[in-house]
Amino acid sequence: MRIYLLSLVVGITALYCSAINPVIPKPLNYTAASGELVLKTIADVYLNLVDTLPGISSPEGYMLKVTPDSAAVYAKSQAGLYYGLVTLKEMEGDRNRIPACTITDEPRFSYRGMMLDISRHFRDKEFIKKQIDAMARLKLNTLHLHLTDAAGWRIQIDKYPELTGFAAWRKGATWKEWNESGNNYCHESDTAAQGGYLTKADIKEIVEYAAERYITVVPEIEMPSHSEEVTATYPNLSCNHNRGGQSDFCVGNEETFEFLQNVLDEVIELFPGKYIHIGGDEASKQAWKECELCRKRMKDNSLENVDQLQSYLIGRIEKYLNSKGKKLLGWDEIMEGGLTPDATVMSWRGTQGGIAAAKSGHDAIMSPGAYCYLDGYQDAPYSQPEAIGGYLPLQKVYAYNPVPDSVSSDIAGHIIGIQGNLWCEYIPTADHAEYMLYPRMFAIAETAWTPDSLKNYPDFRLRAENLAADMKSKGYNVFDIKHEIGNKPEALRPEKHLALGKPVKYHIPWWNRYPAAGKSTLTDGIRGGWNYNDNLWQGFLSKGDNRMDVTVDLESIQPVKFIGIEFMQLIGPGVWFPSSVQFLISDNGVDFTPLTTIEHEQKPTEGVSFKEYAWKGIAKARYIRVIAKAKEGCQFADEIIIR
Ligand code: ACM
Ligand code: ZN
Repeated sequence: MRIYLLSLVVGITALYCSAINPVIPKPLNYTAASGELVLKTIADVYLNLVDTLPGISSPEGYMLKVTPDSAAVYAKSQAGLYYGLVTLKEMEGDRNRIPACTITDEPRFSYRGMMLDISRHFRDKEFIKKQIDAMARLKLNTLHLHLTDAAGWRIQIDKYPELTGFAAWRKGATWKEWNESGNNYCHESDTAAQGGYLTKADIKEIVEYAAERYITVVPEIEMPSHSEEVTATYPNLSCNHNRGGQSDFCVGNEETFEFLQNVLDEVIELFPGKYIHIGGDEASKQAWKECELCRKRMKDNSLENVDQLQSYLIGRIEKYLNSKGKKLLGWDEIMEGGLTPDATVMSWRGTQGGIAAAKSGHDAIMSPGAYCYLDGYQDAPYSQPEAIGGYLPLQKVYAYNPVPDSVSSDIAGHIIGIQGNLWCEYIPTADHAEYMLYPRMFAIAETAWTPDSLKNYPDFRLRAENLAADMKSKGYNVFDIKHEIGNKPEALRPEKHLALGKPVKYHIPWWNRYPAAGKSTLTDGIRGGWNYNDNLWQGFLSKGDNRMDVTVDLESIQPVKFIGIEFMQLIGPGVWFPSSVQFLISDNGVDFTPLTTIEHEQKPTEGVSFKEYAWKGIAKARYIRVIAKAKEGCQFADEIIIR
């Protein structure tokens, strides 16, 4: 059967080509044949809807047959035909020639997502449509729009015009300026107003544009928290009715449910997909403890704590969504207080939330911060625009496997996909957003589509370089992966020194949130990378000024000419250099002689920085004691180097 699908042809015009076959994600089975097809027009491709396809179980799978005379796609659904054409177009590049081959291909996961946060900095429909084009190329099928948050409400709701007349506007073009100047909102008519929102017409256009590319748009409306912009506009909806700084809706107040259901009614009309994302993350829950209405709600419903009160809200909203034919999706905090019956969990605080949800028979989408949060630095921080923190290079994104081998197959079946998230607190412009998305989104896409056993980083990286170059030529601001600097040089190889493998006694325990490798950390020869979240930096946070106090035992008296330790500073999350580091030596581990104390004035710095505290001289010792003091922040160190 030869069919023409207008939407396919429309969609394909938005696809781009490149000189060398850059297909990402990598197809499942590729068998080369001899010869090449010169394709005059995409309309010459035979599209065949079939009932069965050997070896293909996903409705999105396809088979592609290219001979020197013709090209044909076979699939069980229009989405499958579309993906066949996407592959064909990517193979063609701009050479107008396609190598003869047979491909059978299908995605590993049914949910292949990308999230754009357009609350922290508003992005318009043109930007969103441009990213949908890129998603189509990558065979991603879900665009999650984070539409509401403290920094601005971004969706027209007719019943509550002040959401877009006030809650969508602020003074301060960047999130950082707005945050530092007191998180104020203003009216759209204010000459200094910054912000914006998607009208209903914009959303219809985006949703249709996405659907033509077999992409579903999932709206996120935050509740019960991340809602300062709403409570500043409608103060009755918070517990204390203050006009600023109230993150959480009052769960005791029926007006909250009336508001949320009215908003959801209009949201549901705009978004035809099955999921409505209700946020659910990072609720403070503090105001609920003091609020009469919240306390009454807890008493009336025999709720034992505020976690259960959150679960009460989510449960009511879930019932409401279900009654409208929708499914509730939320960040993994929705599990606190008990997961509601039909919810799907998006696991961001690691993977344990998603795995626990899957174990209890719920669907889960994996989006752990350590691998899927594309707002962290993608290269050496000193070479990059300011980011929220972290260090997440392309290779690490690629290394993630959403379903580890240790997970049994019944649980694995509930892990339905993976999503890359672009939070935008530190990403003020459209260009910057693309720079953070690509090429790391390529890695998310390949993990979403291609079985883990077929993934291969060097091979992917070559394809990523080609695709990045091609996207750049089409007007995307893509990070230049060819000139990647990479991890901190010290972290690239183990360091040999006198203390390697020697025992360390902790006179003050390390901070239990950041143990790194525990008691072996400071002498294991393994140096930390650009960020403390790589599990190689050990944290120190104690009540007094003495933050770190450790003794290394060299196990025999030895000549010593150098003792050094490096600390990290990153003021945003509260990581400071110590105000002093003292080195002492001893032969018996009891009587210590000070060698030196290195003083440092604690002061804030921009971005991440590193400082070595060191002693050089001539000494003999078995025991080396290192005492680091600080008034500000917590401290992070990776290794005590002794030579
Ligand atoms: C989140 O990053 N708060 C979901
Ligand atoms: Zn309340």
